[in-house]
Amino acid sequence: MSRIRTFSFDRDELAITWEDASESILQATWLRDHCQMPASRNPDNGQRLVSLTDLPEEIAIDRVELETSRLVIDFSPDGHRSEFDLDWLYSNCYCLNRPTDDRSAAGKILWSGDSFAQQIPRVAWPDFEGRPARKRAALQAVRDYGFVVIDSVPCEEGQVLRVIGQFGYLRETNYGKLFDVRTRVDPNNLAYTNLGLGCHLDNPYRDPVPGVQLLHCLESSAEGGESILQDGFMAAQKLREEDPEHFALLSQHWISFRFEDADTDLRARGPMIEVNDLDEVIRLRFNNRSIDTLLLPPQILRLYYPAYRHFAEILEREDLQIRFRLEPGELILFDNTRILHARTPYSAAGTRHLQGAYSDLDGLYSCLRKLEAQA
Ligand code: OGA
Ligand code: ZN
Repeated sequence: MSRIRTFSFDRDELAITWEDASESILQATWLRDHCQMPASRNPDNGQRLVSLTDLPEEIAIDRVELETSRLVIDFSPDGHRSEFDLDWLYSNCYCLNRPTDDRSAAGKILWSGDSFAQQIPRVAWPDFEGRPARKRAALQAVRDYGFVVIDSVPCEEGQVLRVIGQFGYLRETNYGKLFDVRTRVDPNNLAYTNLGLGCHLDNPYRDPVPGVQLLHCLESSAEGGESILQDGFMAAQKLREEDPEHFALLSQHWISFRFEDADTDLRARGPMIEVNDLDEVIRLRFNNRSIDTLLLPPQILRLYYPAYRHFAEILEREDLQIRFRLEPGELILFDNTRILHARTPYSAAGTRHLQGAYSDLDGLYSCLRKLEAQA
C-alpha cells in the first residue's frame, strides 16, 4: 500500500513525499481533471463524465486532508471535493510514471543473429490454445522480441484465422481474409512467385499498416524458400549509432508507398523510421517493392539516398538476421511494424504453400494485458 511521509500544498500545487522518498508535485488542474468521484467518472466503466470546459478555468486547492488510505481535496472556486486513493495517486502520478507506449523500442529486447543460441521463441499450438500461461509467454515474446513461432498447427487451410481468433481480430484486406503465398500465374505481387524477397515489412501502402502478420506453412517440398527474420528496431539503433544524420533523414522525411492492381490503388505516406515524441523508434516502413515515386525536394533527395542505402545495407547484414526453414505445421506470428521478413528463392520443382493473414497490435496487447492481470 502506498503511504505518504509528508505533504504540503498551496493554491496551485500539492507536493507529496512518499514513504519510499519519491516525490510528486501535482497541479490543481490535473488533480481536478483526474477526479475519480462518481460525479466525475461513471463508477461502472470509469469513463469521464465531464469535459475540461465544464470545469472552472482557475482551479485552486483550498484544503487537503490525509486519511488512512486516501487524500481528500477541496477545490475552489466551486467547492468540489475529490477523494484520491493513495495507490491510485502513486501509480498515476505524472512525476513517477512514464506514458505507456507499447510500440516504443525503449521497452523492447533488441536482438541480432546470435541472440537465440538456445532456441528462438516458440510455442506449440495446443498449448497456445489451451494453456493461458503458454499463450501469455508467446504474446510476451511478440511484445519483447517481435515474433514467435507456433508449431504443431494443423496443416489445413484457414488455420491463420483460428490463431488470430485466440488473441485479436482479423484485418481483412484486398487480398482477402487470408492470402495464399504460392506461385501463381500472372501474380499481382512478387510474393506470389518463386523469387526471393529481400527483408521487408508488409503493406506500408495501407493506412493504418497492419501491425501483426501471420504466415502458416502448409507445404514446403520445393528446394530453397528459407525464411529470414530481422529486428528492424535493432537495425534502426545501429543506423542511429553509425550515423545520426542518416537516422534523422529517414525519420524526418515522409515518402509514399503504393500498391496497384486491376481492382486496387492503395497509397499511404510516412517515414521509413518513425519515432514518438520522446524520439524513441516506434514503427518502420520498409519495402522496396512498394515505395512509390520518390518525391522529395532536390536538396533533401541528394542526402536521402545515402541514408536510405546505409539503412538498406544494415538490413542485409547476415549477422543481424536469423534464418530457418519454415516446416509444414509451423506458423510465424510477428510485429509487422518491427520485424522484417525475407525469403530465399525456391525451386520451381516441388510445392511451397504458405497462408498469411493480418491482425492489429492493439488487440494483441489488450489480450496480453488481461492475461498478465490474471496471472
Ligand atoms: C509475404 C512474404 C514470405 C515467404 O507474402 O508477404 O513475404 O516466405 N512471404 O513466402
Ligand atoms: Zn511479406
